[in-house]
Parts: sequence; structure tokens; C-alpha cells
Amino acid sequence: MKIAFAGTGGINKVHARAAKSLGLELAAAVNHKPESMIEFGNKFGISRQYDTVEAMLKDGEVDALVVSTPNYLHASQTIAALNAGVHVMVEKPMAMNAQEAQQMCEAADKSGALLMVAHCWRFHPEVQWLKGQSTKLGKIIRTKAYSVHVHWGPSGWFAQKQFAGGGAMADMGVHALDTTRFLLGSPTSLRLCKDRHTLWKLRCR
Ligand SMILES: NC(=O)c1ccc[n+]([C@@H]2O[C@H](COP(=O)([O-])OP(=O)(O)OC[C@H]3O[C@@H](n4cnc5c(N)ncnc54)[C@H](O)[C@@H]3O)[C@@H](O)[C@H]2O)c1
Repeated sequence: MKIAFAGTGGINKVHARAAKSLGLELAAAVNHKPESMIEFGNKFGISRQYDTVEAMLKDGEVDALVVSTPNYLHASQTIAALNAGVHVMVEKPMAMNAQEAQQMCEAADKSGALLMVAHCWRFHPEVQWLKGQSTKLGKIIRTKAYSVHVHWGPSGWFAQKQFAGGGAMADMGVHALDTTRFLLGSPTSLRLCKDRHTLWKLRCR
């Protein structure tokens, strides 16, 4: 498996370490900022370096791409890779809005390549343990979850709407929401709750 990385910042260093430990071939890196990419390339022994995803795809020889760029780039970089038949793991939040997310799913369906969103909390040992207990918990009728940054606060592009999109809910709330849905077996809402009375009519799949 030859794996490429779009973005060479904080979380892609974590993904590159993980890919290396699994014995995957770290094939290429993409960033419009050469200094960051050179440092990443040196650290992980990646000599193929590109300033756009399209240029990297043109050269081929990549099986999968990890997209860990600012959120506004997730959809376009993901769709470009999927259209080239390259599997994608895109960081959360998946996209800037539901329309983009839908387009990404359609591109995956059309190409046959796999699309995965990096909802990493699903793989946390405590979450995995809880998932194993879920059949013993009875019918769950209400949940509460939260997700916060510890010893760090978002700044830079993370705090700019045009690059990050939906704010705290999209950035961190999505972890709590996805983990809860994962533990509940991906329920879908049957109707919008307009009042307290309607809320009790909601059922999980
Ligand atoms: N799943 C998780 O737990 C988790 C944790 C941290 C971050 N994230 C997500 O990962 C993404 C990246 O976060 P980060 O903390 O690594 O941010 P970061 O700012 O450290 O890294 C972003 C990288 O993208 C690069 N970049 C910017 N424009 C680019 C372009 N046009 N082409 C290629 N590269 C470009 C930047 O130079 C930088 O290297 C975000 O969507 C964030 O929400 C997820």
C-alpha cells in the first residue's frame, strides 16, 4: 500500500507515524508550503513532494491519500483523489457543509475507491470496550456527550470561518456526536422533534 499525505501539519505527522508502524510505504506529500513539506519529507523519508494534490495524482503510483488540510480543502482534494481511483481517509469535519459531503460520497460510489472519515475516537480502547458492552445496556433513550480541547485552544485557520466552517460544533462537537452515534449503532432520526412530547416518539434503528 502506497500512501500519500495532503497537509504536513500536526495530525498528518500522527497519521504518518501510524502508517509507518503498519509497514505501509509513505509515498508522497502535498503542501503549498515547501518548508513544512521538506521537514515532513525528511522526518518520514518521503522524497516525492508536490504543491497540489492534482500534480501528485498525475504522477500516479499512489493507492491511498490522507487528507489533513484546513477544512475548506477537504472536499476538493478528496474528490480529486477518488476520481483518480485513489482511496481516501479525510480528516474530520468531513466537509464544510452537507452538500460537499454528499458530493464526496457520490464520488466514492462512482469510483469504487473507499472513502473513510477519520473519526479516530471510534478506535480508542475505552470506546471499543464500551461498544463491546453495548448489548448489555438495555434500551438507551437519552445520551449526553462533550468534547473539548485540553491545554490548547484553536487559533489561526481553525478560528476563521472561511477556512474552518462550522466552529466548535464542527471542530470538536463532531467527535462527541460521532462517538455517540457509533456506540448507539448509527441511529437515524425518524422525525424532527418539535417539542418535548414528540421527542419521546423518536426511535433508534
Ligand atoms: N481526528 C482528529 O482527532 C484530528 C486531530 C487534529 C486535527 N484534525 C483535523 O485535521 C485537519 C488538519 O488539522 P491539523 O491540526 O493537522 O492542522 P495544521 O494547521 O497543523 O495542518 C494543516 C496542514 O495543511 C497544509 N495546507 C494548507 N493549505 C494547503 C493546500 N492548499 N495544499 C496542501 N496542504 C495545505 C498546511 O500547510 C499544514 O501543513 C483539520 O481538518 C482538523 O480538524 C483531526
